[in-house]
Amino acid sequence: MKVLVIGGGGREHAIAWKIAKSKKVTNIFVAPGNAGTVNDGKIINVDLGENYNIRGLVEFAMKKSVDLTIVGPEKFLVEGIVDLFKSNGLSIVGPTKLAARLEGSKNFSKSFMLRNSIPTSKFKSFSSDIEAKKYIKNKNFPLVIKADGLASGKGVTIVHSLADGNSAIEDYLEKKRFGSSSASIVIEEFVTGREVSFIALTDGDTIFPFPTCQDHKRLLDDDQGPNTGGMGAYSPVAFVNKQLHDRIIKEVIKPTIDGMKKEGSPFAGFLYAGLMISSNNEINVLEYNCRLGDPEAQVLMMKMKGDFFELLKLASDKNLVRLNGNENFWDCYASLGVVVASGGYPEKPELGKKIEISADLDINDDQLQLFHAGTDLKDGVTKTSGGRVLCVTVLAPNVIKAREKVYSELKKIRFVGMQYRHDIGKYLENKSTN
Ligand code: GLY
Repeated sequence: MKVLVIGGGGREHAIAWKIAKSKKVTNIFVAPGNAGTVNDGKIINVDLGENYNIRGLVEFAMKKSVDLTIVGPEKFLVEGIVDLFKSNGLSIVGPTKLAARLEGSKNFSKSFMLRNSIPTSKFKSFSSDIEAKKYIKNKNFPLVIKADGLASGKGVTIVHSLADGNSAIEDYLEKKRFGSSSASIVIEEFVTGREVSFIALTDGDTIFPFPTCQDHKRLLDDDQGPNTGGMGAYSPVAFVNKQLHDRIIKEVIKPTIDGMKKEGSPFAGFLYAGLMISSNNEINVLEYNCRLGDPEAQVLMMKMKGDFFELLKLASDKNLVRLNGNENFWDCYASLGVVVASGGYPEKPELGKKIEISADLDINDDQLQLFHAGTDLKDGVTKTSGGRVLCVTVLAPNVIKAREKVYSELKKIRFVGMQYRHDIGKYLENKSTN
């Protein structure tokens, strides 16, 4: 079988690495891939150049008779890649354009949650800056201001005063900081608690939950500094006990799948609910994503024992029910990954820095992997080409042991300006807010 993996980050390297373990898979194309996926066994990178868009990808998949496609980044899902592939008779895992609105439009997802009694903070949507400013005048702070559309994880601002709020509103609505993505905004109440990334694969009927993860989104230790795409993650999350897990399925995941079906846009693919769990265990949905998380995918792929290709195939054949109750799909060990980022990330990453990796970095197929993200291989030299560069990911008997191993191996990687957090999984409960 031939598989196409779309994307070029750490998530896609981890996905391709895991799919390559399936005996049923002969070729994996990664478009565009990175230095970690260059000619690695069954894996090959595909450079579509200016045709790296949903039309170019469908043409490539047809030309190469690809049997199954998995999409990493949300952009293509929101643009309707699944609809286009399916209308050309190609198998693909992911939501349709209409279903991907759960991630593509905050106005849609918040209103959807309200209509379907899914727990989320109070909110109001605005496209007029005058109305938005009037609304926040008598509100308690902090408040959260979000761009309606996709903004590469940067479209959320927490404001602590009326002056900050007014300036953020101007930035989003008047100056259109995120172009058409911030033509409208959502203003919502600020909530606190412990964050969990809850990811499930669904074929629209059956729900196959993945182990719980916790991402660390702030750049600096102790949850300080600007938001990023994610600086590290671990799995499983100890405080999500069986009872809380069952409630998340019952109060969030199932009503989301049922609600999307009832409203005429059934959701299939990876449903990722970003949750905040309050001190008295109330669940609050911060956001939906319609794909695997990054770096959550890296730790999840390490924890997966089952055949990922078979799982994806069952999902695309609408036959996930066959795996229901499969206890053996996941390793009971814990996984933890730390992202190594470029200097200047997230605002202005410094690119083109030579990456040196000591030969004694203890890469071990099932227990330690170095997933590449913003890396580029030219003339035998690997250089940085993006904000998040590498993710050192370990599987170990528990989170503490996984942490120790990751941090000892990280010392064997060097490039100018490299930065990483030193506290991934340290407290086993982060303190993030929105
Ligand atoms: N790690 C957060 C995300 O993938 O959106």
